[in-house]
Amino acid sequence: MDLFDDLPPPPEAAHTPIAPGAVLLRGFAREGDAALLQAVEAVIAQAPLRHMQTPGGYTMSVATTSCGQLGWVSDPHGYRYAAHDPHTGQPWPALPACFVELAESAAAQAGYADFVPNACLINQYAPGAKLSLHQDKDERDLRAPIVSLSLGLPAVFLFGTPNRKDRTQRHRLVHGDVVVWGGPSRLAYHGVMPLVEGEHGLLLRRRVNLTFRRAG
Ligand code: SIN
Ligand code: FE2
Repeated sequence: MDLFDDLPPPPEAAHTPIAPGAVLLRGFAREGDAALLQAVEAVIAQAPLRHMQTPGGYTMSVATTSCGQLGWVSDPHGYRYAAHDPHTGQPWPALPACFVELAESAAAQAGYADFVPNACLINQYAPGAKLSLHQDKDERDLRAPIVSLSLGLPAVFLFGTPNRKDRTQRHRLVHGDVVVWGGPSRLAYHGVMPLVEGEHGLLLRRRVNLTFRRAG
């Protein structure tokens, strides 16, 4: 299934630079949404979503799981990547081919031609769930970008700079939008405002975000 091979390149307007090294690709994944969602559900069936504990003693409002060679885990000891799901004791499910294809084509469109993901963090937001401002810095090689795909309900994405004190921009992300950040923005602080109540045609009362990473 070469979901993206037959599509024309997205129009110029769909490619919005938001910061040095960071690009918003509006609607980039809309065409392949049903197959992507099916693959998400298959991963969740093997590696269930769970609300992780943070090192600070909080329970995350976002429910998470992973697929790929490494999965992102958080517990009272800290944040890290692990080869096994601590919940099942099993290796994380493999990265579905449609995930790899989407992540690589979005990265290339954003100027990161040789990105090959080996991990995908799946974040599920119910209405009210949020993600505090943070940096993605647990990956070993920070030369690879982060590729983020939004599915389901819209959300307000906060995107700043590598300096926590700088102002953040707000971008409304809807179903099918992809954001890629790397280079000078690789360590930019980012987060998600509390999800507003709603109902999406395909995902119902939730937003699912996938972040593709080169983790280790
Ligand atoms: C993340 O920072 O891991 C997720 C961002 C998002 O949900 O848009
Ligand atoms: Fe993040």
